[in-house]
Amino acid sequence: MSKDIEVARAGGAQILRLNRPEKKNALTRGMYAGLVDALTAGEAADGISAHVILGLPDVFCAGNDIADFLALASGSGNEIEDVMKFIFMLPVLKKPLLAGVSGLAVGIGTTMLFHCDLVYAEPNAIFSTPFLDLGLVPEAASSLLAPRLMGPQRAFELLVLGAPLSAERAREAGLVNEIVPHDQLEAKVLAAAGKLAKKPPEALAIARRLLRGNKDDIVDCMTKEALLFKDRLKSPEAGEAFRAFLEKRPPDFSKAKAGA
Ligand code: COA
Repeated sequence: MSKDIEVARAGGAQILRLNRPEKKNALTRGMYAGLVDALTAGEAADGISAHVILGLPDVFCAGNDIADFLALASGSGNEIEDVMKFIFMLPVLKKPLLAGVSGLAVGIGTTMLFHCDLVYAEPNAIFSTPFLDLGLVPEAASSLLAPRLMGPQRAFELLVLGAPLSAERAREAGLVNEIVPHDQLEAKVLAAAGKLAKKPPEALAIARRLLRGNKDDIVDCMTKEALLFKDRLKSPEAGEAFRAFLEKRPPDFSKAKAGA
């Protein structure tokens, strides 16, 4: 298990805490693998009725680790499987998924929330998906789930324009259930998980399945996105964007032409 994922249990919930403060909770391949292991164990455990994803104060998740992206781009292609296993697990979870967001939720930090049943956020939460600026395309079925949730224009603004959503706009858009004060976020999420723990488990699983809709559509969308995403990862545009971020400079896409 990655040291950057802390797993705990409380009141019938399994808590998965992203804990890599020095890199703003950017997700490494090891962290994705840790999340997959914990979710798999939580799905099978009798005493667990929900999964809860939390970050740290003022930082939920800075998205995929960009150094990992660069390594994936130059690798054989199999290295991305840890990331894909996590993404493809989201639509097939049987137990509810809850999240508590403080501060930044970037990239997969936002798109994983489209698979959550309850999301609570602090007033300082900011949701952003700078896929285009990185030369990439939306992932985790966000190209299907975001327009479905918030309408095509707001989804375009988030996923293509890359405009961040404030906590208030995310609540209006239906991504966030409730904005809660800083010192009450975790208590709020755990209280909701505690209520779910008291529900009849079979009825809960059936109701959740009904509300999540057709998972085959979601998996199909993820599959299409993943093919494009893997291709884009190796593009000169993405390579330039990743190097520019790591070198702390603005990208220069004028030289990043395919075949250049
Ligand atoms: N991948 C790798 N490292 C990351 C990272 C990421 N996604 N996000 C942040 N970091 C690292 C920074 O490089 C920095 O490392 P350093 O201290 O060794 O230089 C450290 O985390 C702190 O980040 P910093 O940029 O100084 O913090 P900030 O508060 O000024 O900005 C962010 C925070 C999240 C807005 C900014 O780091 C950012 O834009 N990160 C990239 C987000 C992104 O594009 N993710 C991929 C989405 S698909």
